[in-house]
Amino acid sequence: MSNVFDKTRGLFLSLEGGEGTGKSSLSTMLGAKLTELGSDVTICREPGGTVLGERLRNALFNNPGQYKWENTSSSPDPRTELLVFSAARSQLITEIIRPSLDAGKIVICDRYVDSTFAYQHYGRGLSYELIDKAVNLTTSGLMPSITFLLDLDPREGLRRHGIEDQMNLFGDSERIGGNNYLDFESLDFHDRVRSGYLEMAAKDSNRWMVLDANMSPSELTRLALDRMALYLKSK
Ligand code: TYD
Repeated sequence: MSNVFDKTRGLFLSLEGGEGTGKSSLSTMLGAKLTELGSDVTICREPGGTVLGERLRNALFNNPGQYKWENTSSSPDPRTELLVFSAARSQLITEIIRPSLDAGKIVICDRYVDSTFAYQHYGRGLSYELIDKAVNLTTSGLMPSITFLLDLDPREGLRRHGIEDQMNLFGDSERIGGNNYLDFESLDFHDRVRSGYLEMAAKDSNRWMVLDANMSPSELTRLALDRMALYLKSK
């Protein structure tokens, strides 16, 4: 592969997908490969990535006393969720994403605004317009050049997140495992998130690349690099 990456200046990539689709493995592998190829890479994740952002993440996810993982009815109000994710994003953009791009780095962000459309619009049912407003407020139009969607049946993704008892998974009895309270939303919720992602990707194939998350991390990394090389050559 002719090395277009070592000359890359300020490229913004995001990784999207449902629960357990392997975004963090892909961001680590892709970041390592790009570094090997001579790029300066910043990897970040949402929500989080800054001191304040990690505190906001903990406020949402590390609060088992209040948001019992086995009881989705105690999850936060959807507008509150929208504002907390937006606040964390605003700080991440200001502290990490913009300065990294200005310094000519490649930024790989594990989740970005499309997560908010997927989860808070398609999943929770908040209006598109409301989310668009929050997104504009936080990003001032800063969007990734390429977004990789790791597509997977939520049943498999949730299983990967360690939810062990499939019989109990979507019933009323006790649930086991999981990462955070969103894992315990209904299967219908996760199906809406997945089809929302696919709908967004279908509308803008210039920005999105859909990847089958059943593939191995190294295959996914190779496909992502090929897509990036195509994009960079077209610039
Ligand atoms: P995380 O533990 O990072 O899970 P994952 O490995 O799936 O990314 O949790 C992030 C959770 O927050 C995930 O369930 C998606 C959700 N989320 C939203 O609902 N809206 C958002 O805007 C963002 C950034 C995340």
